[in-house]
Formats: sequence, structure tokens, C-alpha cells
Amino acid sequence: MTKVLIATEKPFAEKAISQITSVLNVDGFEIEVLERYSSKDELLVAVKHADAMIVRSDIIDKEVFDAAEKLKIVVRAGAGYDNIDLETATKKGVVVMNTPGQNSNAVAELAIGLAIYGIRNMFLGTSGGELRGRHIGLHGYGYVARNVARIARGFGMNPVVFTRYSKSQAVSEGLSLAGSLEELYAMSDVISIHVPARGEHIKSVSYEVLQHLKPNAIIVNTARKEVINEEELMHFMRFRPDVKYLSDIAPDAASEFEKKFKGRFYFTPKKMGAQTAEANINSGVAAAQQIVNFINHGDKTFQVNK
Ligand code: 3PG
Repeated sequence: MTKVLIATEKPFAEKAISQITSVLNVDGFEIEVLERYSSKDELLVAVKHADAMIVRSDIIDKEVFDAAEKLKIVVRAGAGYDNIDLETATKKGVVVMNTPGQNSNAVAELAIGLAIYGIRNMFLGTSGGELRGRHIGLHGYGYVARNVARIARGFGMNPVVFTRYSKSQAVSEGLSLAGSLEELYAMSDVISIHVPARGEHIKSVSYEVLQHLKPNAIIVNTARKEVINEEELMHFMRFRPDVKYLSDIAPDAASEFEKKFKGRFYFTPKKMGAQTAEANINSGVAAAQQIVNFINHGDKTFQVNK
């Protein structure tokens, strides 16, 4: 029997669990669901006899890998896999995959939602602005940013992109490219961040870049807190009272941001970007299918620890 553990501190929608279960309802597979666990010990016990695991932002570190006696594959139902210790996984011969693109529309819709919340002055009753006619700068051009561009165009916005890796994709979609991050920030009324928490992207939203922002700019972060240089953002916002920052994750210094930037700082209490039934179904079902394909056929498509 292949035991598949679904370990999600932030649970999938019920509908998603039933569809994931149907995918895994094939000969030789059994499922255990560990949702809303409140201590790491529960995860360490549950993973002991698991052959495969589906997770979300759950921290899968060395301790978890050490506790797993038979683990062969971990699928992160989502895009970012910065929560998984890839080095340890590789050392232990565990395949790690993600499910790219599956939850990207949900995250993109939230990015636009945050932009509206920001431009309408956090719905506090004062007269705000409109998105139509404004430039939205896409910092990074992966699946989420592509959906943001599509939705933004529907709002009559002008998307501009800065990307090192997906230039031809953006150009083929008729989008304008900024030559540098500084240029992107200088051109945009709304900046929407869509880069992963690794390599050159860590702390890439720095003072150096922020100082180019237009008056009344809105920064929307549905990516990761690690891509922001928090100290420098705080420093910048102190002398630019026109700038707003809305984030789908608490910064490390959340309480300081809240105290200092009332009315122009907002963060979701829990990461909400992919928290829709549709995104849960798409990414959960894809994760389950990838596990079946790997266990039954050795299919390693979407492996991220090669
Ligand atoms: C992702 O990387 O796919 C998103 O940040 C969603 O994360 P979540 O599954 O923890 O909501």
C-alpha cells in the first residue's frame, strides 16, 4: 500500500478533499488527512509511515524528513516551495514537486483586490482613485503575473513587465517591458510583486528601487515577505506618506508597520492568495495525480529538486 498523507495546517476546501480522494481512490493507495494541526509533533507522528505527502505552506524541514521512514515524494500543492528543505530531500532521495500555475488565477484576483483596496483608501470613506488608465508594474512574469496582466487589461490598466526570464512570453502577449527594476518602479502606479523567495529576488524590493516610485504608488505583495527589504521599505515609507503597502503575508515587523503607517498598510492575517475552492481543487487534484503518476509510472514531471 502507498500511504498518502495530506498535511495542511491551512486546510483545503472540503470539495477539494473529496476530489483529491477520488484521484487517489485507485488500487494500492490509502489516504490520511492531517488538517489544522497545531503542533509540529502531530506532523512528525503522521509522516512516520507516509510514502507520499501533499502539503501547502507547511514547513517540511530536516526534522520532518528525519521522522519519515518511507517517504518517496512530497508535492507542494501550489507554486512556491521555499517551505521545503530541498537539500535534505535530495540527500534522502525524496522527490519534491510543485504544481505550477494551478492556483495562479486565485492569487492574481487577490492582487487586483488588494490594489482596489489600496486605491480606494482602504474603504475608510475618503475619495480614492480608479485603476482604469493607470500603469500596473509586474515585478516578475510567472503564472500569477500573467493572470494579473489579463485581469488588469480588463480594468483598462496598462501592464508593464520587468522579467529576466520570461521576456519573450510578455512580448508575445503584447506587453511593454521595462529595462530595469528601477524603470518598472518609476513607470508604475501599482506595483504587483510576483517573484519567488530565492536567489537575486531576496530583498530585491530595496530602497534603491523604491526611491523611483511615482507619487501615490501602491505596492501589492502576493509573493513572499522575503522579497522585501523590510527595513528599507519602512525607511522609505516614513518620508513618502503618499505610498501604500498591501501584503498577502505579515511582514516580520508587522506591528511596527501597523503602528507607523495607519491607513496605508494592510496585511492578510493568513496567506489568502490561493485560498479559494477552485485553487484548492486545481492544485490538490494536480498534486494527487502527480503522486499516482510518480508511484505507478516513475513520472518526475514538475520535480524541483533535480
Ligand atoms: C503558493 O506558493 O502556491 C501560494 O503562495 C499559496 O500558498 P498556500 O497554499 O499556502 O496558500
